[in-house]
Amino acid sequence: MSSIRSVIRGVGGYLPARVVTNEELAGLVDTSDEWITARTGIRERHIVAEGELTSTMGVIAAKAALADAGLTPDDIDLIVLATSTPDQTFPATAVTIQAELGITHGAAFDVQAVCSGFVFALATADNFLKGSTFKRALVIGSETFSRILDWEDRNTCVLFGDGAGAVIVEAQDQNGSMSDRGILATCLRSDGRYRDKLYVDGGPSSTGTVGHVRMDGPEVFRHAVSKISEVVGNTLKQSGFQASDIDWFVPHQANRRILNGAARKLGLDPGRIVITVDKHANTSAASIPLALHTACTDGRIKPGDLVLLEAMGGGFTWGALLIRW
Ligand code: ACO
Repeated sequence: MSSIRSVIRGVGGYLPARVVTNEELAGLVDTSDEWITARTGIRERHIVAEGELTSTMGVIAAKAALADAGLTPDDIDLIVLATSTPDQTFPATAVTIQAELGITHGAAFDVQAVCSGFVFALATADNFLKGSTFKRALVIGSETFSRILDWEDRNTCVLFGDGAGAVIVEAQDQNGSMSDRGILATCLRSDGRYRDKLYVDGGPSSTGTVGHVRMDGPEVFRHAVSKISEVVGNTLKQSGFQASDIDWFVPHQANRRILNGAARKLGLDPGRIVITVDKHANTSAASIPLALHTACTDGRIKPGDLVLLEAMGGGFTWGALLIRW
């Protein structure tokens, strides 16, 4: 029996040139490198330059992913951008990226699931590739959280950074077995009862302003490990794999303590976790493709590897994907 799988063909990433260290932040708010490093594992973050937008970074990451795949913009017929920091309220930032890449065919739209955005966007693209005429998708996570942070709020401003990452996903006819390449299982969840735990205090239909990030950190932390474990457990169950079968665990890069806690609960080998949060802090929807880009570039992730992605974020939203690279 034949079955279409969404196979990853290329990965790209981009971080803005300006690096802001924990020490530099300690000059802005009452914090310290020691506090931030001990609680989160974050050492530095990258911040966009004036005029550098979510679309600007998305285009650079997209071009890098296309080059990695040996493809051109003409080969792409679907763009799904995960972002909570669009250039404008509308149109979707994905269409700006589409235009800047010179693509005039196919479709482009944004997906908004905050830090889980990339997992939701990749699962969306997977369903389009399996169930429609689209052949190749560009899935991007790009965020300029620096523009929605309250730089006087030490509870949040130390945690986030800017960046973009992208993957090219291609519909390929495979066997329909768990030895196939491509996305093998997905699990997405949301529960809006928790929407006030991590949110932005503005919006087009409420205040008419953009607003700033607000968070109940300990509550987010409390839910993160259990929700991540639940969704990863479901994904493994769906596919029939065990935690010990996973070659690389590539989680949303929010906080090293959350990642290690979830890995411990799931029985995942700590040496198999890709961690990049120290280098770019929490870049929301961009963090998973940035971590994938790092681990593919340095040779850790290789074709045939079983790669598990997971994320949890505002909403709450959470989800996981199992991919054979
Ligand atoms: N520097 C110094 N002190 C700070 C800072 C800071 N940047 N931020 C908060 N504090 C203070 C608080 O004001 C509080 O002080 P108080 O006790 O006098 O009121 C104290 O530190 C809280 O300390 P802890 O209880 O030790 O903090 P905790 O261990 O809960 O760590 C943290 C806080 C890091 C925010 C943690 O709760 C966390 O990581 N939560 C998850 C948040 C997250 O990752 N959000 C990202 C989006 S969601 C996602 O991606 C999963």
